[in-house]
Amino acid sequence: MARCIGVLNYKGGTAKTTTVVNLGAGLALRGKQVLCVDLDPQGSLATCLGVRYTYSLAHMLLGQVDPRSCVVEARRNLDIIASDSSLLQVEGEMWRAEDGQMARKLLSSKLQGVDGSYDYVILDFSPSASILSESGLLYVQELVVPVATSYLAMVGIRQVIGTLKNVSRTPGHRVCLYLVVPTLYSRRTRQDREVLGILQRHFADRVTEPIRASIKLTESPSHHRTIYEYSPRSSAATDYKRLVERVLRDG
Ligand SMILES: Nc1ncnc2c1ncn2[C@@H]1O[C@H](COP(=O)(O)OP(=O)(O)OP(=O)(O)O)[C@@H](O)[C@H]1O
Ligand SMILES: [Mg+2]
Repeated sequence: MARCIGVLNYKGGTAKTTTVVNLGAGLALRGKQVLCVDLDPQGSLATCLGVRYTYSLAHMLLGQVDPRSCVVEARRNLDIIASDSSLLQVEGEMWRAEDGQMARKLLSSKLQGVDGSYDYVILDFSPSASILSESGLLYVQELVVPVATSYLAMVGIRQVIGTLKNVSRTPGHRVCLYLVVPTLYSRRTRQDREVLGILQRHFADRVTEPIRASIKLTESPSHHRTIYEYSPRSSAATDYKRLVERVLRDG
């Protein structure tokens, strides 16, 4: 059975998509079968990987096509389900649905139709607590929370913990905070070191080694490359490989 991991932080720009791409691609390079799913109407996942697609998550959720036709091969062992602004329409319909709980379970039931052949399914959450994010939380078992090491970024994680408590109250569902990943980290900056210390005090061994700030990670999406393709010898590639090994070890 696939490990279903959500990459979530309701604060924007904390490297969620970067982490989905490079964790997913890293696991795929290690021979695992990986499916990454974009839950964000900004639709960055397909752009970052340079993937063209015909059918997106919106088609899947609206029941317009067979869920399997929304799956696109991005790299060897790495498939994606892309999203774009059409997802906003789906969110609107989900809000208007008479049975809100059923609407929230739709994503899980559709994904369960395609996830059987994967070792990992990784969801890229949007930076908002939308109904789709709630649906994603019903599907995943583990959360990876990237936290940019600035003080303001700490706000996001408090919100995530609040959300986790709510989801845990849903009968029959358990989602756990699996890893906190410090991102955009600069060892030379005092504030970054302090935030890392706070994270380690709060979350102990759930906090991974930080992903250092790297211009290569800023550049790689515009070249539609993963960090392993764009700059395999960079500190960023080293940091993400370390995260991949941690996830493999825990699995
Ligand atoms: N370690 C890093 N060093 C430098 N730049 C980074 C790093 N990680 C991510 N970035 C850059 O920071 C920006 C935000 O990253 P990303 O899009 O992954 O965040 P996000 O959390 O998915 O954002 P959103 O909340 O909008 O979905 C991007 O331009 C990305 O290339
Ligand atoms: Mg994103």
